[in-house]
Order: sequence, then C-alpha cells, then structure tokens
Amino acid sequence: MARALTEPKLLVASHNKGKVREIRALLAPYGVEVVSAGELDLPEPAETEDTFVGNARIKAHAAAKASGLPSLSDDSGIEVDALGGQPGVYTADWAETPEGRDFAMAMEKVWTLLEERGAPEPRTARFRCTLCLAWPDGHDEIFDGKVEGRITWPMRGENGFGYDPIFIRDGETRTFGELSQEEKHARDHRSDAFGKLVAACFPERVG
Ligand code: IMP
Repeated sequence: MARALTEPKLLVASHNKGKVREIRALLAPYGVEVVSAGELDLPEPAETEDTFVGNARIKAHAAAKASGLPSLSDDSGIEVDALGGQPGVYTADWAETPEGRDFAMAMEKVWTLLEERGAPEPRTARFRCTLCLAWPDGHDEIFDGKVEGRITWPMRGENGFGYDPIFIRDGETRTFGELSQEEKHARDHRSDAFGKLVAACFPERVG
C-alpha cells in the first residue's frame, strides 16, 4: 500500500519551467499548494545515475531534505529506437551548450543521426517519465509512464517544451508542439505516470 499524501503543500523538485508548468496543471484538480525548487532557490543536485528512477530519486530526496516538504520529481526523456534508445536518460544533456540549453540543436542532432543511419520510417520513439514522491523522513513512492510515437522532421509547433516539436504520438498527426497543454495531457508520458500517482497517493482527493 502506497503512502498517502496528506500534507497540504508539495514541492516540485525541478528548475525546468516547462516541466513545472505541466506538473502544476496536472496537480491543479487536487487542492495541493505547489511550490517549485526554482522558486525556493534550492540547489540543483547532480544527476549522476544512469536510470530515470535513479535520477528521479536523487532530485526528490535532495529537495525533501532541503525543504522539509514532501517533494515530487520528474525524470524524463525520449528514447529513439533506431538510435538504440538514445538520448534516453541523457535527453537534457544533448541540449547542453556553454550558453545554456539549445533544444533546436538537440532535435537536429536526433534527426541528423537518423538520416546518417538511413533509419526506416516510421522512426519509432517514446517519451518516458518516472515520478518520485519523497518525504523528509526518507520514504518514497515511484511511478512510471510512457507514450509511444515517432520522430518527424521538420520541427512543428510552438507549444510545450524540449523535444515536443519532433514527436508525434501514435494515432495523432500533430506533434506535441502543436497540441494544447490539455490535448497533450490527455495522453502523454507525464499524465500516464500522474494517473498512477494520484490513484495511489491521493486517495482522499480523487473524485
Ligand atoms: P531531466 O528529466 O531533467 O533529465 O530532463 C528531461 C528532458 O527530457 C527535458 O529537458 C526535455 O528535453 C525532455 N522531455 C521530458 N519530457 C518532455 C516532454 O513532455 N516534452 C518534450 N520534451 C520532454
């Protein structure tokens, strides 16, 4: 049996504004007050693990310890099958430049590698998300979500964040960048994991 979240306030353990915006929207129906690690100026721990769950745990436990609040982290990324699952856990790293993150560059790298390898269409891929809800006493709960789809080029759409402009989920023609936030959350990796979190840890708040 998962531990229920009974506290009124939850910290979102992320400095990524796109992620925090989406997590806030997903939490909005449940009457939890949300603050983010960025707003509290908490230090960003190094993501030294090579799995989504390992890095999600690092972020949530560091934030819970520093803030004294139950803390929710999201570690996520995109796996491209013809690239052997890359960038995967290193999705954010592919966008790193000395001047900050450049996602257009990262998406171009994905496409260039697919072209170089002559990868057949459809260029299947999936977004994965692991959520970790950690309490200051060290307890945690883990939930995984995913959404299957394919990579397209050129980039399309101004909505969302990260790699949204080159990903089309199965059964859709528009990229995640062309969907509204509500349309994206109807079926994406984050809402998939969130549904499991809500069912397990928000039993009093559902319905
Ligand atoms: P991390 O979880 O902070 O290591 O970073 C995950 C990276 O995956 C983000 O910086 C995004 O580039 C990408 N990512 C995760 N979720 C999404 C999404 O919903 N849309 C687009 N990109 C995403």
